[in-house]
Amino acid sequence: MLKKLLITGANGNLGRMCRARLGHLAETLRISDRDDLGAAAAGEELVICDLADRLAVEALVEGCDGIVHLGGQSVEAPWEVIRSANLDGVFHLYEAARKASVTPRILFASSNHAIGFYEQNERLDAKSPPKPDGLYGVSKVFGEAMASMYHDKFGIETASVRIGSCFPEPRDHRMLSTWMSEDDFVRLIERVFLVPRLGCPIIYGASDNGASWWDNRDVAYLGWRPQDDGEAYRAALDARMEPPGRDEAAAVYQGGAFCADGIHEA
Ligand SMILES: NC(=O)c1ccc[n+]([C@@H]2O[C@H](COP(=O)([O-])OP(=O)(O)OC[C@H]3O[C@@H](n4cnc5c(N)ncnc54)[C@H](O)[C@@H]3O)[C@@H](O)[C@H]2O)c1
Repeated sequence: MLKKLLITGANGNLGRMCRARLGHLAETLRISDRDDLGAAAAGEELVICDLADRLAVEALVEGCDGIVHLGGQSVEAPWEVIRSANLDGVFHLYEAARKASVTPRILFASSNHAIGFYEQNERLDAKSPPKPDGLYGVSKVFGEAMASMYHDKFGIETASVRIGSCFPEPRDHRMLSTWMSEDDFVRLIERVFLVPRLGCPIIYGASDNGASWWDNRDVAYLGWRPQDDGEAYRAALDARMEPPGRDEAAAVYQGGAFCADGIHEA
């Protein structure tokens, strides 16, 4: 069991879910976001912190032996926004981890948008080079590179999870391939913090989807067995909406509509 597990981005979609469901992994959960976190539950410490504030991030990380790093800009945005939350923020997190009295193990929430320009008929594994589909995707590639460098130079272990689409259920046809159930994400987080030796793997964050594009055999040593499958929702989706046309980005690229998006100017 961890002593203190930090969850950043705790006011977000995944952060709220993790806050509610990861209490069994640590004696204390340190819950953080940049604004109001509500009242502390038993076993929680609340810390309001902007990831762009280097000294505040050092204080945030100190004393934590685990970090689920979900905080940051989670969709395409102007460069200044991406840079502050996802580049400066990630640098501050790793520098804080390097300087801390306890070296934390980190789960970094990367994204399918780090590899979004691969086509949907291509099968990827952990060795597939990045192919980001926008500034947001580039920022996730940067985060994976930071994780790699801090592992090789300083021994900080990180699981970079290229999260597909983690929602209660798939919201469109592309998500039949990218969907990760919340239960499967919790199972993955458990394995990341329980496995004796993690290293610095790239993991595709998806359920056991029949329509998957991703191969996680390189991380079989984690013992993670996703148990859900987006196929269970296909009939309901078909009844609710048309699949995308064959030439639409949502049907061509793994990153879907992000690939058709322009650069967001400030
Ligand atoms: N939900 C998914 O399916 C999915 C898919 C791929 C990747 N991800 C990644 O997982 C993480 C969580 O996703 P989410 O859907 O919960 O996103 P979200 O946007 O709902 O939550 C992100 C949280 O980060 C916080 N944040 C943003 N900038 C910050 C800053 N400068 N300082 C401190 N906090 C800041 C926000 O306040 C927010 O609460 C993100 O890093 C996202 O890129 C999520």
